[in-house]
Amino acid sequence: MNVGVVGLGFVGLSVSCVFADKGINVHGVDIDEQKLSMINEKKSPFYEPQINQILDKVLNKSLYVNSNLEECVKNSEIVFVCVGTPSNSDGSSNLDYLKKTCKEISEFLNKIHDEKFRIIVIKSTVPPQTIESEIIPLMEKKSSNLMGTKLDICSNPEFLKEGSAIEDMSNPHLVIIGTNNEKTKKKMNHFYSKLYSNSINIMNTTIVNSELIKYTNNSFLATKISFINNIANICNKIPGADVEIIAEAIGMDPRIGKMFLKAGPGYGGSCFPKDVAGFLNFVKLRGYSMPILESTHNINEKQPFEIIKMIKNKLGDIENKTISILGLSFKKNTDDIREAVSIKIVKSLLEQNAKIKVNDPMAMDNFRKIFGEQIEYSDSIESCLSNSECCVILTEWDDFRKIQPKKFLEFMKKPIIIDARRVFDINKFKDLVDITALGHGQ
Ligand code: UGA
Repeated sequence: MNVGVVGLGFVGLSVSCVFADKGINVHGVDIDEQKLSMINEKKSPFYEPQINQILDKVLNKSLYVNSNLEECVKNSEIVFVCVGTPSNSDGSSNLDYLKKTCKEISEFLNKIHDEKFRIIVIKSTVPPQTIESEIIPLMEKKSSNLMGTKLDICSNPEFLKEGSAIEDMSNPHLVIIGTNNEKTKKKMNHFYSKLYSNSINIMNTTIVNSELIKYTNNSFLATKISFINNIANICNKIPGADVEIIAEAIGMDPRIGKMFLKAGPGYGGSCFPKDVAGFLNFVKLRGYSMPILESTHNINEKQPFEIIKMIKNKLGDIENKTISILGLSFKKNTDDIREAVSIKIVKSLLEQNAKIKVNDPMAMDNFRKIFGEQIEYSDSIESCLSNSECCVILTEWDDFRKIQPKKFLEFMKKPIIIDARRVFDINKFKDLVDITALGHGQ
């Protein structure tokens, strides 16, 4: 089968690679020529485990990428739209790329006179009702009423995570197919059952439920994180309390589950902050309210400042103090710093005239684009620690987890450590260095 994928960001490229690796012929399209030339050199424009190896295997065999949307639409039976829907300043979703893509697809469809029934699959995250109230009418208008006979639109949100996108896409826990059309439902079920050899859960539902599932899923996960971060901040103040032990215990209750209970400096990335804001905006515009999600958002906005409080508790006045930051990406195994907590923390520390040194295995180039020469970029953990008065762990990279107390003693001016990701064994560290761990009341 021939499919198209429009938008080769982290979702689109991961989806393209996994489809192509499983034997589907994929035509990937993007408007960014620089991105396309990198992919055509078998290099992913972003860091993602396994992706370059798959590109090496499938490029120009089952995966072709270029900027020719017309050719893509012509040759594909299913076109997956994975363009970005970033946040506007009021939290609403910016649908400009999505609308532009769908409009162009409709215009190309008008020129094609074959008998194919094509499905346009919206993978981009969109607010509930967007597809039925905006995308379908737009495409109907532009494609001379092909809708239902030669064209249909379906919702198929994606649940893959950065840093494990290939693994998640290869073994999804669930595939949601949102359609109100029987023919589309049959074709999409056939596509996914064949792709995964019948071994996955497929849920068929309406378009609006499918849109709501994506927002609800991300909102619930974000709420779990803010909940445990709230508990961590309380534990900070209670001698002997430890959020890690509490999370471990409650995670054993199958009704709660152990995932997404890791306290930290707040969630970041291109999804949770955007989707929480998007859902809150959607709810507000319709005259409803969702206080629980408002709290999720507010706790997350304040969480980086809890880390700053922890730094100041130890250092007092931070003016002219040298602070090392280990970890810049919004989580490990990615070079992505979109909405990363590190940005907020470094900005605030600079405003208070601290001297900042940073190290990250993957995200330094992206960080440099924001902070330029205002901070020092260290190529190694050792040089980042050298002469520093405080070290803050902001991302849980495996390399940081392996650091032994003697390294802090050897390189730092004063071995003060703020472990905002709970990567160290506090019992092992506490007699050797001055460590404050998030959610551990000392
Ligand atoms: C998230 C969802 O997990 C995916 O299912 C979804 O497909 C994706 O958004 C999306 O909507 O496209 P992602 O943003 O890649 O995926 O990353 P997560 O692993 O969910 O982490 C998000 C943030 O939460 C990170 O900053 C991470 O450090 C933080 N986090 C996560 C915690 O602080 N504690 C946890 O226990 C888990």
